[in-house]
Amino acid sequence: MPKAINRDTIVPTIRSPLPGPNAKKWAKFHRRHAAHSTYFYDFVWDRSAPAIGPFCTDVDGNVILDFASHVGSSPLGYNCPELVALCGKLASIDPDRYAGTDFIGAWGEDPEFSDVPTPSHLHYKLMEITKPFGFDIAFFSNSGAEAVENAIKICYDYRRNYGYGMCFYGAFHGRTLGALSLNRSRRVHRDWYPQIPRIIDLPYCRCTGTCDCGWKIYSIRRKGVISRLAQVLDPDIGLVSPEEVAYIIIEPVLGEGGYDIPNPNFIREVAETARTNGIPLICDEIQSGLGRTGRWWACEHFDILPDIITSAKALRIGATLGRKEIFPQEEKRISTTWGEGNAISTAVGYKTIETIQKENLLDNATGMGDYLLQGLRDFQSRYNFMHDARGLGLMAAISVSTDRTRNRIIQRAFQKGLLVLGCGFESIRFLPPLNVRQREIDIALNIMDDAARGV
Ligand SMILES: Cc1ncc(COP(=O)(O)O)c(C=O)c1O
Repeated sequence: MPKAINRDTIVPTIRSPLPGPNAKKWAKFHRRHAAHSTYFYDFVWDRSAPAIGPFCTDVDGNVILDFASHVGSSPLGYNCPELVALCGKLASIDPDRYAGTDFIGAWGEDPEFSDVPTPSHLHYKLMEITKPFGFDIAFFSNSGAEAVENAIKICYDYRRNYGYGMCFYGAFHGRTLGALSLNRSRRVHRDWYPQIPRIIDLPYCRCTGTCDCGWKIYSIRRKGVISRLAQVLDPDIGLVSPEEVAYIIIEPVLGEGGYDIPNPNFIREVAETARTNGIPLICDEIQSGLGRTGRWWACEHFDILPDIITSAKALRIGATLGRKEIFPQEEKRISTTWGEGNAISTAVGYKTIETIQKENLLDNATGMGDYLLQGLRDFQSRYNFMHDARGLGLMAAISVSTDRTRNRIIQRAFQKGLLVLGCGFESIRFLPPLNVRQREIDIALNIMDDAARGV
């Protein structure tokens, strides 16, 4: 087991084939009573062992380069000193989660001079980074799915109409019953569960040349090419009128569905249609937000104005953000015991944003993202089974001919000490911490190259 890790010199180090004996022991122990879930490999992170930046140690003393960042939940990597110090300060106070929508949790006498950020301070911080959208209200919950549940609930309440919702092919919005009704990523995400009625789904256009995804269609009635959205809302030939629609929900970059970057004209048309018809537009930024793409929010790349943003993962708490006029005016409509009372998560969320600001990590995500993408494009030119290298900041992916080959490459990379994840049906996604360094990307690309060679 390494005693400490020097980020400038450490390289992934694998002592025996993974999973090692201790990882097997832990996996068996854990799985005995853990529900079946999304476990992909028996990667067992040893939380008591050294870890820094994108490097961590597993229970067998192997040093792993983590380009999955806990699916984007650790945007500053392991053991970021600012976050560790803050957690140390807060960890001695119990309860760490309190009834935050019934009572307010403070730190000291005056909020202006509090030296520890509280949930209230996180509200202010989030308003700072949603200023371009004129946001002035936030509601915290326990997960990304709950942030989505609250977003659509707020819209149903605001619109009080027929409650049509619109979502897009490939979407993933969570696993609670409301959120899963909006999923169009995989069957297993929806299957036989009861779903919210009146959901209309539309193609998510990522076409770069002629549109062949079904978003653009030729309308005989209109004697020309129109979008599916225009067709659905058309007063003569459409299915619903805009007044009947409670919300449109979209991921500004598809997450689980495949890290697809939308055609800017497509996403702008969606946003513009929502705006001109007064339909609230929800941007689900749970995976793409908080700096991952080099802007605070991925929707900023497309100059669109959301009415609600959902955040979670990197923020460490679920958040539904928007404008007061859309949120319920009456009390008791939205609440959850721990949401506004999660002292550690909200403080860490605040500090994460502050650290991204202080260390100019949006710029780093842009620069390092370009560098990573160049490497993926190089793979694409050298391996005939790889295609479609893509990325926006540090949300990058490459597609592989089949899901079996994709999974083999991921497993081979893991055996060499690199942790990456799949997404969509046959893509590999890369989401290193926002403070990733060029040396670390070079190591990851070398391992990927090794893993791809000879599959
Ligand atoms: C875009 C998006 N929305 C919602 C969710 C659900 O978040 P959670 O797993 O925290 O419920 C996810 C999770 O991957 C996501 O990527």
